[in-house]
Parts: sequence; C-alpha cells; structure tokens
Amino acid sequence: MLTHALGRNTFGAISNTGNVLNRNEANELLHSWVQNERLKLHMQQVAFLMRCWAQEKENLNSDDQWKWELAGLLHDADWDQWPDDHCKKIIEELEKRNIDPEIIHAIASHGPRYFGVDPKTKMGLMLYAFDELSGFIHAYSLMRPNSYAGMEVKGVLKRLKDKTFAANVNRDDIKDASERCGITIEKLIQFIIDNQKKLVL
Ligand SMILES: [Fe+2]
Repeated sequence: MLTHALGRNTFGAISNTGNVLNRNEANELLHSWVQNERLKLHMQQVAFLMRCWAQEKENLNSDDQWKWELAGLLHDADWDQWPDDHCKKIIEELEKRNIDPEIIHAIASHGPRYFGVDPKTKMGLMLYAFDELSGFIHAYSLMRPNSYAGMEVKGVLKRLKDKTFAANVNRDDIKDASERCGITIEKLIQFIIDNQKKLVL
C-alpha cells in the first residue's frame, strides 16, 4: 500500500455528533468517486457486515446501524482515484460535510499500521476486523463451486495459512484486528460466512 500516516488522531467536530449522509447522498459519493466495480462490491460487503453486526451483536437502533453501515460503505472511497492519499481524502470530505466524528474516526483507523490511528470505538474495531477478512472470504467463495454453500470456518482457516492464496490480504492485520476487538478469528469468519452470503445487490 502506498498510503501515508495521517499524522493526527482527532477527526471531525464533536458538535457534529449525529450528522450523517443519507443513503442517497452516500451512494452518490460512492458511485461518483469509485469506478472500480470490485472495490465498490468490497465496500458494500463491508457496509453490510457492519450493519448486521450493529443490529445483531450490539443491539443498536436503526440510526446507529446506519452510522456503522456508512463507515463501511465509505471507508475506501478514495482508494480508486487517490491511492497515494488513501483515507486522507475521504476524511477531509466527510469533515467538510460536518459528518459525525465517530464515523470519520472509524474510517481513519481502519488500517492502524498504514494510517497511524488506533481504532477506539467498537465501530472502528469492527471495521478494521471486517475489512481484510470480508475480501478474503469473498475471494474464497469465488473459487468454490458452490460459493458460500457448505463453506466452513476450517476451510477459510486453511486458506489463510496458504500464503499464496489471496496473497495481497495481510494475515497480520487480521490477527491484530481480532486481538484488538477481543473476538476470535473463528467467530469473525463464521459471522462473515453467515451474513455476507445474504447480500443481494
Ligand atoms: Fe477496505
């Protein structure tokens, strides 16, 4: 990754707490900034997982579920056009639009090794945890004859050990995210298998 540390740890303004883009505005930003269909799908998959987790595991109300979903939906919005400024560009855009600082911080902390920002909320931790694993499990589903049907955690773990499979997925980040959020890799994988297959676009 050609990204640079962001050089700061606070994002957005507390007075903007509760401010979000609505679904149309978020999709407008997504589709105007991102042309790469695979990247769009990745962002939509992570967004869906964030929503499912917020609902099922955190029992959050629909407004808060949308905040989690929004963080997932936009976390890589600048990767397609501005890889050298990845994360910086989308953060500045959301700050300009006076978006809730929790969402901006979650996006800023989705790659601590790259951006130099530690996730500090459950939203940020789960975004970090889902990011690499979601793409990895999607790649695995594409090489299986029956996609997600019959997919098991142990099959995913086996592929994770095979460094030649989806070699661009950083295994250290997956381990680090799991440790930071205190959820085993096995549980994260099971949740993604159970939910990612439900996403119909
Ligand atoms: Fe991502």
